Amino acid sequence: MSKKLIIGMFGFGVVGQGLYDIIKTKKLNLEIKKFVIKNADKKRSLPAELFTTDADVILNDPEINTVVELIDDAEAAFEFTKRALTTGKNVVSANKKMIATHLEELAQIQQEHGTSLLYEGAVCGSIPIIRNLEEYYDNELLHSVSGIFNGSSNYILSKIFNEGQSYGDALKKAQELGFAETNPILDVGGYDPKYKLAIVASHAYGIYVDPEKILNLGINNLGDDDVRYAREKNFKIKLVPLAKEINNNKVVLYVLPKFISKDNILYNVENENNGVLVKAAFADEQFFFGKGAGGHPTGSAVLSDIAALRYDYRYEYKKHLDAEQVQYSTDYELNVYLRYSDEEFVNKLNFNSISERFYGEGFKYVIGKINLQEIIDKRDLINQPGTFIAEVV
Ligand code: HSE
Repeated sequence: MSKKLIIGMFGFGVVGQGLYDIIKTKKLNLEIKKFVIKNADKKRSLPAELFTTDADVILNDPEINTVVELIDDAEAAFEFTKRALTTGKNVVSANKKMIATHLEELAQIQQEHGTSLLYEGAVCGSIPIIRNLEEYYDNELLHSVSGIFNGSSNYILSKIFNEGQSYGDALKKAQELGFAETNPILDVGGYDPKYKLAIVASHAYGIYVDPEKILNLGINNLGDDDVRYAREKNFKIKLVPLAKEINNNKVVLYVLPKFISKDNILYNVENENNGVLVKAAFADEQFFFGKGAGGHPTGSAVLSDIAALRYDYRYEYKKHLDAEQVQYSTDYELNVYLRYSDEEFVNKLNFNSISERFYGEGFKYVIGKINLQEIIDKRDLINQPGTFIAEVV
């Protein structure tokens, strides 16, 4: 018999509403007792007595055994999650920044207090990748995990490449549809997929890496010339996070735009869909596809976690228990396309080799090999209007 969940929920935005819509259609042994929200004046679709702005109403209520955390603010989310987990409440969260930034501490708290924190909804919306990494691939040797982890930037790129829309219009639409983060630079700058990558890396390789140490460059500086260049070569551009084991138990992690050819399975992942490509030693290649953003798809992942708590499911962080511990590394050579405007720019970067140079009127680029650590060191220099970098394979 599953246990009855009495839920206190933080946040009632796109995902909260999506989750609520789904729960309404089901007969589950659960009750949402209270919602904590930030803005008391906002009109809500549920009776006013269900809402409060006081977090203690949930956190100090002994009857509430489950906290569902769906707020924007990562630091507030961390405080609520920590308090819940240390006082015997299980937590479901979709806050990728909070989880990626504090995962090691959160894993320790769960261990110490025997409580459970689940976060399938934080990574690639509806795609059940975390539980698969935990339960299915726990004895697999994973060569790499990559894909498309951000619905908004993928939506924007689809609209640009398939419908010739402008970047600005496409971004506006992604915001209207509720895919984008409150601050959309988190999406288009590659921060959001980086947080997801850090969480994936923890379950795939047993490492905790501070997201601050992981390179993310996004599509915010994408220009018409880059799109034209890609089209001429029959490529699309996608924003791709990669976790890859290189020799000697080292793992590299980064998020960069990438030219994608027609034979790549990511080529046809369009709009707010996400894709996770797992390359494994024994299972070989496997691909997960599904909606990566939006209230109902993400709500479905959150509900799956809530349902799992009825049976006291917990992540065991199995890869962290492996005898052979892997290390995070930035010693890795990439082949990149770099568009620039200032003549001196290329000289400021230490390319290992350059295979192609193009000087056109108002359009200049190089293609060459460069170390990941060098891109990290020159990140701020590269992340400027007039410059765009993408991986070429
Ligand atoms: N802003 C995120 C995205 C929401 O666009 O993928 C889902 O995590």
